[in-house]
Amino acid sequence: MPVHPETNGTNQEELRFWVNGKYHVVPNPDPSMTLSEWLRSQRGLTGTKVMCGEGGCGCCVVMVTHPDPANGGTLSYTVNSCLCPLCSVEGWTITTVEGLGGQKAGFHPIQRRLADFNGSQCGYCSPGMVVNMYGLLSKKPQPSQQEVENHFDGHICRCTGYRPILDAMKSFSADADPEKGGCIDIEDLTKHLCPTTGEVCNGAAVNGVNGTCSLSLRCGQHGVSWYRPTTLEQLYSLLEQHETGQERYKLVCGNTAAGDRDDMTK
Ligand code: FES
Ligand code: FES
Repeated sequence: MPVHPETNGTNQEELRFWVNGKYHVVPNPDPSMTLSEWLRSQRGLTGTKVMCGEGGCGCCVVMVTHPDPANGGTLSYTVNSCLCPLCSVEGWTITTVEGLGGQKAGFHPIQRRLADFNGSQCGYCSPGMVVNMYGLLSKKPQPSQQEVENHFDGHICRCTGYRPILDAMKSFSADADPEKGGCIDIEDLTKHLCPTTGEVCNGAAVNGVNGTCSLSLRCGQHGVSWYRPTTLEQLYSLLEQHETGQERYKLVCGNTAAGDRDDMTK
């Protein structure tokens, strides 16, 4: 594996992140492994399903919180874990459906509401639906019914035809019939309230990942190396280093689509 001179001495070769409040360290992670693969095969968190494996069905959705370099705060949103490279989760806090609730710990209000509305048949899509709704309510506790519907445009259910699922999720809306369920208190939404702000934080502040990641990551397996430069200088230096050789490289951002280098320069 080539050593990047700019990052040598300050980089790390292990990933550190949190899943459902537990801290994990993964030494020399495999750059070809996805987050969904790791959750299912390494941690037995099989509530996160994988079907299409290409970002089209939503059954693999998990919620993530990570430092926002733009303002020093944090960003929270849902991602398709089937597309999310494991190597990209350094410093993240990840919430899977197991982190929301279950049979032993007690079901989360969103899980209960989905069941009350008969929104689950085989249940394969349900974890992704639940986590997606959790992501929306964490950002906007009282969405409109239209906003709920829009938020589910990346989800597919093969069984129920969506109506009972959307009915269940829309029952959390500000403009829904209160007799059908009504909005949810933020205290009921999550156990993870920021001790400082009192807002939903998913443990990020508690776990100390507020602020920006300052360390570069450098790891590799099976002939593939992964770098996470943290400054533009590091990025340009890496590009220079690899453009002169015969190596192929790609810049990974959301990883929802791929284009070749010519496309990027057009
Ligand atoms: Fe279908 Fe990830 S498995 S979006
Ligand atoms: Fe079967 Fe949605 S309940 S895929």
